[in-house]
Amino acid sequence: MEENAVHPVLEAIRNRRSVRHFTSDPVPAADLEAILDAGRWAPSGMNNQPWRFWVVTDAAVKNDLAQWTQYGSVIRSAPVAIAVFLDPEACYHPIKDAQAVGACLQNMLLAAYALGYGAVWLGEILKNEDGVRKTLGIQPSWPLQAVVALGRPAKRDQTSSRRPLAALMPGSGF
Ligand SMILES: Cc1cc2nc3c(=O)[nH]c(=O)nc-3n(C[C@H](O)[C@H](O)[C@H](O)COP(=O)(O)O)c2cc1C
Repeated sequence: MEENAVHPVLEAIRNRRSVRHFTSDPVPAADLEAILDAGRWAPSGMNNQPWRFWVVTDAAVKNDLAQWTQYGSVIRSAPVAIAVFLDPEACYHPIKDAQAVGACLQNMLLAAYALGYGAVWLGEILKNEDGVRKTLGIQPSWPLQAVVALGRPAKRDQTSSRRPLAALMPGSGF
């Protein structure tokens, strides 16, 4: 890497944006597996790996899933939806398990970006997790963590902003 080049990991962290409009191009199995694998390699407390993935590509199932969120059009537009659950049998601490799933989800978003895909983490759908479990045939005890909509981005003009670092360090002399 050139001395002044931005490291690709940092570039992805900085430039990844939530994508909510997709082309109809399918996601090849090898790319989908690479994205799930990035999630699999996330850190977790005691390496308990509490995440479980349900990959939805079938249009009828995806349409059924879409009814459970006000962002249903995002799910319908995406060729792939990945529902992420916690396996209660793998869990050991509510906060740490949720943090691990967050790391897993971010890994998948970054991998999607790195491979030229767009993705968005959908959390609003959690309010209807019973419906999501019914659509997917998941056991009632498995808490839904998020749905990731994934596909080739229809456009790449998304912008976003963050609070300045100084505002996140109240009282720090750094
Ligand atoms: C926990 C969580 C829940 C989210 N839920 C939704 C959602 O339901 N619908 C949606 O369109 N975006 C959702 N997002 C995406 C955020 O809106 C987005 O990450 C944020 O606005 C920053 O934009 P960026 O991802 O482009 O940087 C969610 C993100 C997170 C981390």
